[in-house]
Amino acid sequence: MRLTLHVWRQKNAREPGRMVRYEARNVSQDMSLLEMLDVVNEELTLKGEDPIAFDSDCREGICGMCGFMINGVAHGPRRGTTVCQLHMRKFKDGDVLHLEPWRARAFPVVKDLVVDRGAFDRIIAAGGFISVPAGSAPDGNVILVPKQNAEMAMDAAACIGCGACVAACPNASASLFTAAKITHLGVLPQGQPERYERVVRMVAQANAEKFGSCTNIGECEAVCPKEIKLETIARLNRDFVRASWTRRAPRNGD
Ligand code: SF4
Ligand code: FES
Repeated sequence: MRLTLHVWRQKNAREPGRMVRYEARNVSQDMSLLEMLDVVNEELTLKGEDPIAFDSDCREGICGMCGFMINGVAHGPRRGTTVCQLHMRKFKDGDVLHLEPWRARAFPVVKDLVVDRGAFDRIIAAGGFISVPAGSAPDGNVILVPKQNAEMAMDAAACIGCGACVAACPNASASLFTAAKITHLGVLPQGQPERYERVVRMVAQANAEKFGSCTNIGECEAVCPKEIKLETIARLNRDFVRASWTRRAPRNGD
């Protein structure tokens, strides 16, 4: 296969970027999109040019490092799939691909297709953990967890923190990510002691990072490679409202 690429090239966050055209030749249908970029980069390096910068680590769809826009869609055209798991057989010979980094104020461009997602780390640091002294690992059956809750927690814990939800949202909202992190702890018994404090602190940090608000558009769910559901955000909102009740001094009649 042969493809034409238009790739966002930007030296660093301070300098302006631009789209640059490249030809990708001898592309095998069995390559992943990142492997196709590896081949393009080899050619660029041999010519003495700067290779295209992009993030990756596991290349198995589990670490959340990869991700950029492919023809305007976060992670590209295949639902429930990260860029590293997207194979060239999804495209046709002669296709034209536009590759751009996530666009959000909270995710400044580091270089080319690489953005700084440190804002997500700071949201986690604000409360996405359990700090109760849990002691050594208890027997699996000591704390019973209803099956429905275990499944909800597992589904939410599938979030890999890639940032596609933010990139796809017209508000650049981090609600799906934050909701996934809040849910996977908040529906388990171990997450209860800090449940309401956690939601307040993580939402406050998301606001401080200048992510937008959720207006239920649903683009996040559509592009999420782990298919985290929009209803997760409803759970976040419910916990946030309950948190304001638990923080309010009881009044007569409450
Ligand atoms: S919710 Fe989905 S799109 Fe958002 S960071 Fe998690 S895995 Fe990525
Ligand atoms: S490189 Fe790890 S999810 Fe893509």
